[in-house]
Amino acid sequence: MEAAEHGAAFDRLVDRAFGPGRFAKASQRLREGNTPFADLCFIALDGEAVVGGVRLWPVRVGAQTAVFLGPVAVDPDFRSHGLGGDLILHACEAAQAAGHGVVVLVGDRAFFEPLGFQGVPTGRLTLPGPADPARILWRELSPGACEALSGAVTVR
Ligand SMILES: CC(C)(COP(=O)(O)OP(=O)(O)OC[C@H]1O[C@@H](n2cnc3c(N)ncnc32)[C@H](O)[C@@H]1OP(=O)(O)O)[C@@H](O)C(=O)NCCC(=O)NCCS
Repeated sequence: MEAAEHGAAFDRLVDRAFGPGRFAKASQRLREGNTPFADLCFIALDGEAVVGGVRLWPVRVGAQTAVFLGPVAVDPDFRSHGLGGDLILHACEAAQAAGHGVVVLVGDRAFFEPLGFQGVPTGRLTLPGPADPARILWRELSPGACEALSGAVTVR
């Protein structure tokens, strides 16, 4: 789990992984003025060095709640060993255990589909900023939780 002392190192890793453009993304609008779930943020350590991590955030979809995933990032020297996938699967399992129904994210299908994510039907969810509809994905954690989910994704 991410502890307070890991936060700055993970932020630096994310800055390096995504570059300055990340602050313009719709996903960033859902993180501003929001606080991630302390028990649903995970990091990977190599010794004491932070080499990967993922954060989950509370969001609202219309009258319902959901969890927003991002960023997920792994240090370039540690990629392609399954770390990114493991972090995402672990975060989803923890969210499910905590009783959440749906995880939403903006990302590449090719990476996230094998991890249980699917494309959100066009128009079902709108984000607070421009996002390629083909990259809006969700993963259902409890049966039927996606069925009624529709509308604007906003900070809770
Ligand atoms: C995406 C990321 C977290 C994956 O971390 P990782 O530890 O390498 O993940 P895994 O080892 O579980 O999976 C790696 C595989 O996913 C593939 N992959 C990574 N990013 C991908 C993407 N955007 N689209 C399709 N495939 C992707 C890699 O090519 C790799 O395949 P390989 O094993 O055949 O080489 C890491 O590449 C990263 O930090 N990227 C920069 C930030 C980013 O893009 N985050 C995700 C937002 S969509």
